[in-house]
Formats: sequence, structure tokens, C-alpha cells
Amino acid sequence: MQVKSFEEYQQVYRKSVEQPEKFWDEIANNFLWKKKWDKVVEWNFVEPNIKWFKGAKLNITENCLDRHLEKNGDTPAIIWEPNDPTEHHRILTYRQLYNKVCQFANVLKNNGAKKGDRICIYMPMVPELEIAVLACARIGAVHSVVFGGFSAQSIADRIKDADCNIVITADGGFRGNKVIDLKSIIDDALVQCPSVEKVVVLTRTRTPVSMLKGRDVWWEDEIKKVETQGNTECPAEEMDAEDMLFILYTSGSTGKPKGVVHTCGGYMVYTGYTFSNAFQYEPGEVYFCTADIGWITGHSYIAYGPLSQGATSVLFEGIPTWPNSSRFWDIVEKFKVNILYTAPTAIRSLMSFGDEALKGKDLSSLKKLGSVGEPINEEAWHWFDEKIGHGNCPIVDTWWQTETGGFMISPIAGVTPTKPGYATLPLPGIQPILVDENGKEVKGNGVSGNLCIRFPWPGMLRTTYGDHERCRTTYFAAYPNLYFTGDGCLRDEDGYYRITGRVDDVLNVSGHRIGTAEVENAINMHSSVVESAVVGYPHDIKGQGVYAFVICPDQEHEPELTRKDILMTVSRIIGPIAKPDKIQFVSGLPKTRSGKIMRRILRKIAEGDTSNLGDTSTLLDPGVVDEIKAGAL
Ligand code: WTA
Repeated sequence: MQVKSFEEYQQVYRKSVEQPEKFWDEIANNFLWKKKWDKVVEWNFVEPNIKWFKGAKLNITENCLDRHLEKNGDTPAIIWEPNDPTEHHRILTYRQLYNKVCQFANVLKNNGAKKGDRICIYMPMVPELEIAVLACARIGAVHSVVFGGFSAQSIADRIKDADCNIVITADGGFRGNKVIDLKSIIDDALVQCPSVEKVVVLTRTRTPVSMLKGRDVWWEDEIKKVETQGNTECPAEEMDAEDMLFILYTSGSTGKPKGVVHTCGGYMVYTGYTFSNAFQYEPGEVYFCTADIGWITGHSYIAYGPLSQGATSVLFEGIPTWPNSSRFWDIVEKFKVNILYTAPTAIRSLMSFGDEALKGKDLSSLKKLGSVGEPINEEAWHWFDEKIGHGNCPIVDTWWQTETGGFMISPIAGVTPTKPGYATLPLPGIQPILVDENGKEVKGNGVSGNLCIRFPWPGMLRTTYGDHERCRTTYFAAYPNLYFTGDGCLRDEDGYYRITGRVDDVLNVSGHRIGTAEVENAINMHSSVVESAVVGYPHDIKGQGVYAFVICPDQEHEPELTRKDILMTVSRIIGPIAKPDKIQFVSGLPKTRSGKIMRRILRKIAEGDTSNLGDTSTLLDPGVVDEIKAGAL
């Protein structure tokens, strides 16, 4: 599945465009199927209706586990590094992981789980999180993983949207010097969720928890039951290629987060193929992706992609800056990591600690580096290249999205010549196109436009859970017959792609997608807030920060307390990750006569660029702009 030279890439790419069915048919043959497909792809971007490998039968866990047992059963699948460096690391070989997944799959069955059920997972970054994910896939249940930084309210919204009947969680989770009371947050969420019949709780932090009779069970007790039953094997459920594998919620420009749906066959092929090809993964290499399994990067490139390729992955529970800012480099040295895949926000944060944190660290095992989640600025790119890669490691800047399932535009390590800040060229099978506001194709090089894709790929989303119309209007209605990414993009003179950021009202804060409307709704829940508007602004470490303009007449008495109250409200409604960095109290917002907030003006003010605010004459009350300008933070 790997191309070995730039000429070969060009050749394969051409073939993938001219004969896409033949191309994907050959790639898909590298995987294990219970039954092969009748048709490679059937699609239209109008409804949309997308089916890959129709008629094929499989179970993705057989590709990730069973097929490695004979030759690579003793190869480490997971090297788990705990939050606290003084706690022992754990290694799980493919055979051990297989056994644990089968055991836990039987636990799920004992607790009433069946094919097609939706199961919510809210856990810390421990091997049992990956085991839980794979156990769901083993029995054909659909997992919906919720990142540990989301609030009880957000979890409840997601559980209700997907109508989950089981939750898998832990007593708590360690993150740096904090303990997060996961079970207690779940308890708060479940007050609103009568559909949940069982909660399986893993012991991790020994935080006191309340266990409800008949509903809550301990992971460890349930495993013991399975052991005494002698239930060690769990046959993999036969799945249709287009059966749902998982739901993952992500923010858009309007309304509540939507549940992006991925299916079994195409997702397996796409994540396995792109992992192998873009990173040029060789057997025996140690791969470390620093993302959380709660995000798509963790799903595709910690769990499914690497496992389907028999890779050895480091799974890290903690954060890059605790107990000190050498944490990543110590892990690289300890496990002789060969491939490090991280995010620009982490790079910038570690960069800010200076070279001291790198002193004496042996990074010579590193061969390839990767970046994901947001545009990487040139300064961070060069630092990563020089200080971490010592100029010897290709940087694979992977552009993709929750909706795309896997890498779309990305260098192939050591094959594609790289350029700082550029995701470079589309991977084989991917057909990007730039369009202008009116949907007209922007042709040639040295141009920019809105980034769309004109042909389906196996890893793309199929729908948004429970609301297909929303999928259509969000991604397929802006431009006829194209998938619209929401990103702006530049194609330079060499035909290289550089992603310039979102063109919709979605912020990218530390690589996390946050909808401005979502944050506004949360702020507006505060009892004394009249109205608010949220925009992004450039932030040295986070990439973008959250700037909120808030109308709140009561704040005059105690502005600082009101500010904190608003932050608490956002934490409670969405989660700590969405807390505004800046809150400016204003008496009014710049609105047009038809009542629309002119965000363009607010964005400029938030960026600190007030020299040229453009035409403000159409505003209902132009005076408000001067007031906001004067009070800018
Ligand atoms: C942004 C994360 C520039 C982009 C995998 C996209 C990037 C959004 C890159 C998706 C990159 C992701 N360069 N921008 N290499 N990778 N993005 O769904 O705006 O959490 O639309 O998926 O992140 O974020 P998501």
C-alpha cells in the first residue's frame, strides 16, 4: 500500500483519479474480509448516498487483532505510559489485547449489549479505553466516545441524541496534577438520560463514587464473572461494510454538535491505508500519537489505523507539561519512539519553554514527525524540524477532519518534498477542488478558494446521526455535487496546498473544534446575560483564542465575579475546553438594520486591528463600535 518514490506517487495518484474503482479495489484487498464486495462504490453527493464495498462482510477487530495473532501475537500493540512517571508503564501484546477485548466484549454481552446498540464511552487515556472501543466493535455495537473535557450537560446531549443504553466510564482520570471525577460527572448527566440501563465503571483513581443498585457495575467484578464462566473467546460479529461503526460528535457553525457517522468497511480500509502510506510505517517501529482517543485523531490514528497495520503504539495518559515540559521527550527516549505525531498547539507550548527542556534528551530514535489539527505556523514547523527532528525527519503535516475519517492532503514521509506550513499534496484517491463564493471552480495554480472534494473516498462520513438532512445541508448543499470542508485553502505556484483555516463560524482552539454559536448559547444561559457574540482571535499557543462580547447590565456592581460566573456557566454547559479567554462587557453589539450581528467588525476588534473596520454606515447604531473599540481587551 506504500508508494516509495515521488514518481510512483504521481503515477499512483493519476491512476486513482482515472480508475478509482480499480485503485480502491486493490487497496481493499490488503484487508481481511469475511466476504468480498459486489461493488466498490456507489454514490451521489445530492442526497447524499455513499456506499463503499457494498455486499462485503467483515469485522474491523479481526483486522486489528485476530489477523496478527499467528505471526505477531507477541508484538506490543500498546505501550501505555501513565500520567505519573513514577507509576509503572504497561505493555499489551497483540495477543493480550485480543484476549482483553474478547473478555470485555463478553462483559458487554452479559450486561445486555447487542449489535446495533449505541454505547457511550467517557474514560481517561488508559488501555481499557481502547479495549472498550474495540469490544464494542467486536459485538457490532456502535461506540460514541466523549472526550473527558466535556461537561455533564454535553454528555447528556450526546447520550440522548444517540439514545445510548450503556455507558462505560471510570471512577476518575488523572491529567497532570488534577483528578477528574468522571463517574460523578456521568451521574450528573444520567439524571437526564432514562435510556441508560447499565454503567460499567473502571477503577483508576480510587475516587469515591456512588454506585446505583441495578444500574452501575464495576469493570473488574464483571471481568471476574466472565473468567469464572470460562468465557474467554468472543466470536466477531459479522458486519455489513456499510453498518455503522461509530458516532463521534463534532462542532459546526450552527446549533448543537452533530454526530458524525462512520461505517465499518470503508473506514477500516481508509485509516489502515493512509496510516501505512503517509507514515511509511515499517514493522517494529514505535509510533507515538499524542492525541486523545476522544477525538477523531485518536479513533483513526491511535486505535484503528495503527492496529489494522500491526503497529506498536505508545498510549499516553497525561499532558505534555506535567510534571515538567520534558515529558514528551522523556517518553521518546524511554520507548525509543520512531514516529511522533502531535499538534501545533503542543509544539508551540513546548517551544515556549525554551531549549532547557530538551537538554540531555536522546531523540535520536526519531525518524518521522507528524502534525495535525490546525495550520502549523512556520516558526513552529522549523522548531519541530530542527530541535526535535534534527533536520533528519520528514514532517508529515496531515490535513483532515472528523468527517473525512482519515488523512486527505498530506505529505508521504520521505517521498513528498515538504514545505513549511503546507499540507502539500492530496493522497491517492483524493480529488480536491477550490471554488469561489459562487461555487465556480478556481483553476490553475497560485490561487485560493474554499476547499471542496469532488469524488468520494472510503473514509468519508455517511450521515449525521438521526438527521440526514443536516448532513446534506452542512456538507453537500453549499456547492452542488461537492463535499464542502469548511476550510479556506491556498494552492501555490507548485500546486501545493496550504490550509488557511475555517471560513465558517467554527473556531480551532488548541486544535479543538468549537462552534461560536455553541459558546454564545452557553453564555446566554447565564441569568443576567442579555446577549453575546463570540469570535476567535490569534493566540500564540492555542492558535485561536475565544473572545466574547457580552451584554450584561448587572455586571457593573461586580464585573470580576460576573466574569467568573460566566466562565462557570460555559464550563457547566459545554466543558472547560470552551471557556472564553477574554470577556468584554459591552452595552450593545454592532448590528445591521435587519438585526444581524456584524462579526467581521468584532473579529477585527478582537484581533486588535481597529484601523480599518470597513463600512459601518449600515449599522443600526454605529456609535456602539467606538465604545467597543475603546474597551477592547
Ligand atoms: C483543521 C482533526 C491545517 C481544519 C483531524 C479542519 C488543519 C479542522 C489541519 C478539523 C492541518 C486539521 N492544517 N488545518 N494539518 N488538520 N485542521 O474535525 O480547519 O477536529 O477543518 O479533525 O481542523 O478538525 P477535526
